[in-house]
Amino acid sequence: MNYTSNKRILSGITPSGNSLHIGNYFGAVKPQLELQDTAETYYFMADLHALTTVKDRDLLEKNITGVVLDYIALGLDPNRAVFFRQSDVLAHSQLMVVLGNYVSYGQMQRMHAFKDKLQKDASEESINMGLFNYPILMAADILLYKPYGVPVGEDQRQHVELTRDIAEHFNKTYKTEVFPLPEPLISKQVGKVVGTDGQRKMSKSLGNTIGIFEDEAVIRKQIMSSFTDPNRKKATDPGKVEGNPVFAYHDLLNDNEVELEDLKARYRAGTVGDVEVKEKLFVAHQRYFASARARRKELESSVEIAQTILADGAAKANAFANTTMTEVYKTIGILNSLNT
Ligand code: TRP
Repeated sequence: MNYTSNKRILSGITPSGNSLHIGNYFGAVKPQLELQDTAETYYFMADLHALTTVKDRDLLEKNITGVVLDYIALGLDPNRAVFFRQSDVLAHSQLMVVLGNYVSYGQMQRMHAFKDKLQKDASEESINMGLFNYPILMAADILLYKPYGVPVGEDQRQHVELTRDIAEHFNKTYKTEVFPLPEPLISKQVGKVVGTDGQRKMSKSLGNTIGIFEDEAVIRKQIMSSFTDPNRKKATDPGKVEGNPVFAYHDLLNDNEVELEDLKARYRAGTVGDVEVKEKLFVAHQRYFASARARRKELESSVEIAQTILADGAAKANAFANTTMTEVYKTIGILNSLNT
C-alpha cells in the first residue's frame, strides 16, 4: 500500500433512501464511477451517518442493500473500487472519538447542516447529537484513508473544509504530517441538480426527485409533474430555457443534440408545448438508463451479492484504516510503552 500516493479517492454515501435518483447520479455517483478508472477508490455506505434520520433497522437494511445494488447496476466495479460498509470498519468510530478533541464547539455550531435544521425546527431539543457530531464522523471517515480528494456534492463542501481544519490542527499539535489535507472534488456543472419543484436541490426527503430504477409509470409521472417556466401560461407563449428544470434534465440526459436544440428553439419561440418537451425527456431518460435498468432488474433480490461485495470491501478497508489508527494512537500517546 502506498501511503504517499496522491491518487487515492474516498467518498461516502448515506443510505437515507432505498434507491438512487438522478440528482444522486449526476451530482455524485457518475463522477465517483468515472474516478474508478484512474484512481485508487474507496467508497462506503455511511450507515452510521444514516442513523441521524433512519431509526428503523429493517428500513436501514433495505436502504443499504438497495443502494449497493443500484451502484453495481450503474457500473461500480468491486474489483477496482473498494466498496464497504462504514460500520464494518470500527476505526471510523474510534477515530471520531479522537478527532473531537481537535475541533472547537464554536466551529461545530457554524456547520450548515446543523444550523439549517435548527432554523427549520427552531428547537435545540429536536436536534440529536448524532447530527451535531456528523461532521466529526465524516472527518474520521475521510482522514483514515489519507485520500487526495473527496468527490462530493456542493452541499458537502463545508464538511470537507472542516476536515482539513481538523487535520491541520491535529498535525500542528503533534508536529507531524499524519494527515494529508484532502481536496473537495466538486463537479462544476452538476454539483447540484435542482428538484422537480424548480426550487430546491433534488432530494428524497423533499419529494422532488426523478428516479432511475422505478417503474416507467412512476418515472413518467415524476417527469410530467415537474415545474417548467412558471411564467408560461400557454404553449404559444415564448418560454425560458435557462433555469427551467425540465431543460436542465434534458441537458443531462438527452444525447440527441439535434432534437434538444430543436426543442429549445421551439420553446423560446412558443411553438412547442410543455407536454411534448416532457415526453421527449421521458424517452431520453429511458434511453440513458436502459442498460443500468436492465442490470438492476437482474439483481432484483441479490442480497448475497451485496453481502459479498461489502465483506470483501471491509477486509481491504480495515487493513488500511487500522494502520492509520495505530499511527494515530501512537502519535497521541494511547499506544505507548505502558501498553505495548
Ligand atoms: N455526508 C455525505 C452526504 O450526505 C456522506 C458522507 C459520509 C461522506 N461520510 C463521508 C462523503 C465521507 C464523503 C466523505 O452526502
